[in-house]
Amino acid sequence: MANNNYVRIFDTTLRDGEQSPGATMTSAEKLEVAHHLARLGVDIIEAGFPAASPDDLEAVRRIALEVGNPASAESEARVPVVAGLARANKADIDKAWEAVQGAKKPRIHTFLATSAIHMKHKLKMDPEDVVQRVSEMVTYAKSLCADVEFSPEDAGRSEPEFLYVVLGEAIKAGATTLNIPDTVGYTTPDEFFNLIDGIIKKTPGMHNGITVSVHCHDDLGLATANTLAGIRAGARQAEVTVNGIGERAGNTSLEEVVMALKTRHPVFGLDTGIETQQLSRISKLVSNYTGILVQPNKAIVGSNAFAHEAGIHQDGMLKHQSTYEIMRPEDVGVNQTNLVLGKHSGRAALRNRLAEMGHSLDDVELDKAFARFKELADRKKVITDLDLEALVADEFYRPRDVYLLNGLQVTCGTMGMPTATVRLRGPDGVVHTQVAIGTGPVDATYKAIDLVVNVPCILLEFNVHAITEGIDALGEVTVRIQSEDGSMTMDAQSEVEYSRVYGGHGADSDIIVASAKAYINALNKLIIAQTEGAGKVKNDFGVMLG
Ligand code: KIV
Ligand code: ZN
Repeated sequence: MANNNYVRIFDTTLRDGEQSPGATMTSAEKLEVAHHLARLGVDIIEAGFPAASPDDLEAVRRIALEVGNPASAESEARVPVVAGLARANKADIDKAWEAVQGAKKPRIHTFLATSAIHMKHKLKMDPEDVVQRVSEMVTYAKSLCADVEFSPEDAGRSEPEFLYVVLGEAIKAGATTLNIPDTVGYTTPDEFFNLIDGIIKKTPGMHNGITVSVHCHDDLGLATANTLAGIRAGARQAEVTVNGIGERAGNTSLEEVVMALKTRHPVFGLDTGIETQQLSRISKLVSNYTGILVQPNKAIVGSNAFAHEAGIHQDGMLKHQSTYEIMRPEDVGVNQTNLVLGKHSGRAALRNRLAEMGHSLDDVELDKAFARFKELADRKKVITDLDLEALVADEFYRPRDVYLLNGLQVTCGTMGMPTATVRLRGPDGVVHTQVAIGTGPVDATYKAIDLVVNVPCILLEFNVHAITEGIDALGEVTVRIQSEDGSMTMDAQSEVEYSRVYGGHGADSDIIVASAKAYINALNKLIIAQTEGAGKVKNDFGVMLG
């Protein structure tokens, strides 16, 4: 029961977000997101569920070492805690500890369900056995790691009196954070306020060294409201994801909670350590990596969140910004200086701008970025931060190139059959060429790529949009594909195996090229996962798995 004015932001984009079907990221992408989360100022990064697979464990281990240590953060105080999730059993807890122990501030987060429905149908355990297991497993986790978090899963539908007992045992066994999940997004803000209030007041052994945390799902669209209600009741940790990604309707969105606390500071009187100017950037990064688009009207980070179409609104805005804007777009990193670069800008200007945007590139990377920048500057007069962001994502934040686009020629229009000739460099270094006819230029291109790659998959989603205004804008394409052979992973909570969905992203001033890149990007992820899963190749970090 922390009684201060600081709300810790516990980001679970890489665990609850990534575990949701369709949000798969490669190990390198997870590491990159973790670096950005640290820069954003989150207090805790839940880096994954190490027991899910050797690859998940390795990704968490790498994040703990690289992001969870002072050398990689501005100062020691800003180094985030790195947490790993574990079911309440020794094997999971051992794996979580193996993964996080390299961090300066490691945390084991263990959980067990406490609602009657879950205990009876999922766990098939009596309430007394649940209490005993929590006590034993929190004790075990504490014997390994000083910082232990416990979550009674489905707390939103659990009997409050039973929760007080379970949480009291968790405190006795050494847990210092008690996280209260509304796992199925069932509660209302008033109910959730009362639940947290009751837990703080009635749990035996509750003291100032215990942080009560809230973790809400958005099934009824109430996740942010419930999280804020829990915070008003005294919770001082909020578990959130970037863009609100997560199981089903998602988790509470980081940007909504942070901006609500900031914008309505007089109401809450609470602070977070988040550098809000980076919210828009991390939102795009996560969307690019997962292939999950942000709806245009999404609060804070949607493309329309600060757009004023209606004439009456525009008129008001021109008279005074505050008539229709409760936050300034600059506060969340939208429409920032957009220092414009052009054809004549040099390497140093590009390096500086990218560094200001949070991308520190080494010399080799800068060479590549500069070449792409010049190529674009030949076609597009002014290059904005949004263009640079897309270029960097396209060039650097993508999985290892198993297949790489080496050439593309498409003919289409009303005079003939859309035909694509595709050249791809394969993992063997050989360049493969294929030709295909399709219903349109993208279909023809994808068919030709399929002929080379030969990995059966289903295209679930294809989206294209222009990054900036104007006819010369860069086109950005995101796709989501699913393997027909089913590369499976396990969900931490339901323990159900599901077939992963892979997102791909590509940017180019030619949208067919962007489409090809996005598809190859997603296929590369799928191939890496399938071959790594089978222990046939090294993972993104060069470690042999399997
Ligand atoms: O929603 C949930 O209950 C969870 C727990 C594992 C914290 O994600
Ligand atoms: Zn959850």
